[in-house]
Amino acid sequence: MENIKNSQIRLSVNINSFKYPDSTVALSDISLEIKRGEFIGILGSNGSGKTTLLKIMDGLLKDFEGSVILDGMNIKKLSPREIYRKVGLVFQNPDDQLFAATVFEDVAFGPINMGFSEDDVINRVSNALKQVEMDGYAKKSIHNLSFGQKKRVCIAGLLAMGHEILLLDEPTAGLDPMGEYKMMNLLTKLNKENGVTIVMATHSVDLVPLFLDRLYILSKGRVARGGTPEDVFTAPEDMSNVKLRLPQIAELIYRLKHEDNLPFEKIPLTIGGARKEIARLYA
Ligand SMILES: Nc1ncnc2c1ncn2[C@@H]1O[C@H](COP(=O)(O)OP(=O)(O)OP(=O)(O)O)[C@@H](O)[C@H]1O
Ligand SMILES: [Mg+2]
Repeated sequence: MENIKNSQIRLSVNINSFKYPDSTVALSDISLEIKRGEFIGILGSNGSGKTTLLKIMDGLLKDFEGSVILDGMNIKKLSPREIYRKVGLVFQNPDDQLFAATVFEDVAFGPINMGFSEDDVINRVSNALKQVEMDGYAKKSIHNLSFGQKKRVCIAGLLAMGHEILLLDEPTAGLDPMGEYKMMNLLTKLNKENGVTIVMATHSVDLVPLFLDRLYILSKGRVARGGTPEDVFTAPEDMSNVKLRLPQIAELIYRLKHEDNLPFEKIPLTIGGARKEIARLYA
């Protein structure tokens, strides 16, 4: 029974401490687990340690005190190739990730390296570009893309490789409002339909409750809280303590309840939830 339970854990992260060479302690006392098929958020303000944590989970930073176990194996002992077969990281800044001359070459790089045939590579690239709505851009020079387009090409590069675990560093930052929703819908689809386990760093408090199963709030390199969106988004003070805020709709209902004494039973986190609660109140 214990084994069955453990096999569901894909990443088990225990970091006592991680220090950058200039002595900045970026992470301390982190303990978290990512299970098969989950869609997890790492929420935190600027400088809270999100990028550092994702880089450790991707095996890019290995000189931390503690352990990261990927499918039962210590990540410090795995080669980059062994890690990349399972885990892919989309960087926060697309210019750190993209390097080829054209969109096609960039997205094709991963699948070519993985040894797929030419036909398979072409299919994978074309499917991945379709998924991020960048088909038609294959021949375009990377340098001439907009920021949001670059971001989507980065994600296509990872999709073309077909990782089982995707780590995404602020995938919606810099996208327009519709682009944000489309990106979150695409990630939800990958998670629910293709079974991809997803961990995304973000500070988009308004988007998170709509899409994520569970989240961890990072503050000053430590996990301040973890749980479902309902567990984590509690009161405005708790959020400002970690330099975040409630989703706007939750903030409104919170104030109506506590400052105007309207009898809301719970604080909904989404417009759909708020609509139900308001309709109940005025029914
Ligand atoms: N290469 C580095 N050398 C030294 N300190 C670093 C380095 N990279 C990050 N840091 C520091 O580590 C801490 C965590 O940074 P990190 O980039 O992980 O935060 P973040 O949560 O991703 O922030 P953001 O939301 O701005 O992307 C910060 O205090 C930052 O100044
Ligand atoms: Mg970051």
